[in-house]
Amino acid sequence: MTRPLLIKNGCIIDPSQNIDKKGDLLIKDGMIASLDDKLSQADYDIFDAQGMVVCPGFIDLHCHLREPGYEDKETIASGGKAAAAGGFTTICCMPNTDPPLDDRASIEYVFKTAAKASPVRVLPIGCITRGREGKGLAEMGELADTGVIGYSDDGDSVMDSNLLLKAMRYSLAFGLPLIEHCEDKSLSEGGQINEGITATRLGLQGIPAAAEEVIISRDIALAKESGARLHIAHVSTRGGAELIRRAKEKGIKITAEVTPHHLTLTEEAALGYYTNAKVNPPLRTEGDIKALIEGLKDGTIDAIATDHAPHTENDKRREFALAPFGISGFETALGSLMGLVHDGRIDLNLLISKLTVEPAKIVGKELGTLKVGATADITVFNPDEEWTVDTGKFLSKGKNTPLNGKKLKGRVKAVIAGGKLIYNG
Ligand code: DOR
Repeated sequence: MTRPLLIKNGCIIDPSQNIDKKGDLLIKDGMIASLDDKLSQADYDIFDAQGMVVCPGFIDLHCHLREPGYEDKETIASGGKAAAAGGFTTICCMPNTDPPLDDRASIEYVFKTAAKASPVRVLPIGCITRGREGKGLAEMGELADTGVIGYSDDGDSVMDSNLLLKAMRYSLAFGLPLIEHCEDKSLSEGGQINEGITATRLGLQGIPAAAEEVIISRDIALAKESGARLHIAHVSTRGGAELIRRAKEKGIKITAEVTPHHLTLTEEAALGYYTNAKVNPPLRTEGDIKALIEGLKDGTIDAIATDHAPHTENDKRREFALAPFGISGFETALGSLMGLVHDGRIDLNLLISKLTVEPAKIVGKELGTLKVGATADITVFNPDEEWTVDTGKFLSKGKNTPLNGKKLKGRVKAVIAGGKLIYNG
């Protein structure tokens, strides 16, 4: 039995209960036992959170753990530890593994491995199509039975509209969302970075915003037709955000996520043929960032998800066109997002809601809250601590971030999952 833990003097922020106040929080038997202005110390372990924010553990709707199949890039164990260091207590992993997560055995493998090796809760996402091939549907009922939280062929859109419509209709029986990577490859094929001035300067083929917008439009039409829940993965464009806004206004069941890198970096990060800034969808422009922030503020975009996509150094140390897309994102998420708070671009409470209660609603589980009686999943961070990103210290195997050597302000200090201290930074 772990001893009760009292987190004292923190600034407790829990958007699920509209709480933003200084106080103490007591954890007992893996649950939140009480939350008050001042609690007696009794016989408890104490964590002094003076000057720190105490909030629900972050929930990441979108990451790549690479296991099974690509264990040189990441494993469920290394990814789980990196997630904890980033302040996450629940992560949803994408099925573009080898073999892809498209049946009971592969989903059970993820659950079993995570139970043994990951300090954070791992919730797998199953494929929409068998083998992620876009041809026939995966066993969606079996996947639902095994505990997936949604379906996605992330990395690719389901290009056959009729097949996606069928998937949407089946998904209604299970109440789970279709999580769509929105990219029309007939528009993006061969593209390396955002279509625009930087691509022209570098002589690289561009990926137009329309590649994303065309699929978002089509998917909205299919969601309307089927009544299914549609979740748009990593929206990156002004036009995409606008389409989602209009669909929400019409009552279509659509939610969306945006990544920290699409909120904080532009296409210029790729100058110098910097492959660590090569990501899909590509980093866009300041105008897109403004629109995505606006989308977070007005509720068009529900959640922030990392799209943590680890690759080996050798994978990325290649000529630009041959390097894979992806940014390792768990361990820099909070620091880069806090930059937006320090710059006055988003409010701290809003940021925390997009990392906790909002993704919890999409996952459909009782998570992302500090309510008394809830599982004690808690993140403690210092909003003002400055630190320099050093990928040599990453717990993730993926060192592929354009932020290496950059100074960030905002640092995870402690993470508790199910009442257990899983990270102490
Ligand atoms: O940059 C990306 N990397 N975007 C994706 O959609 C897939 C991901 C990966 O699996 O590496």
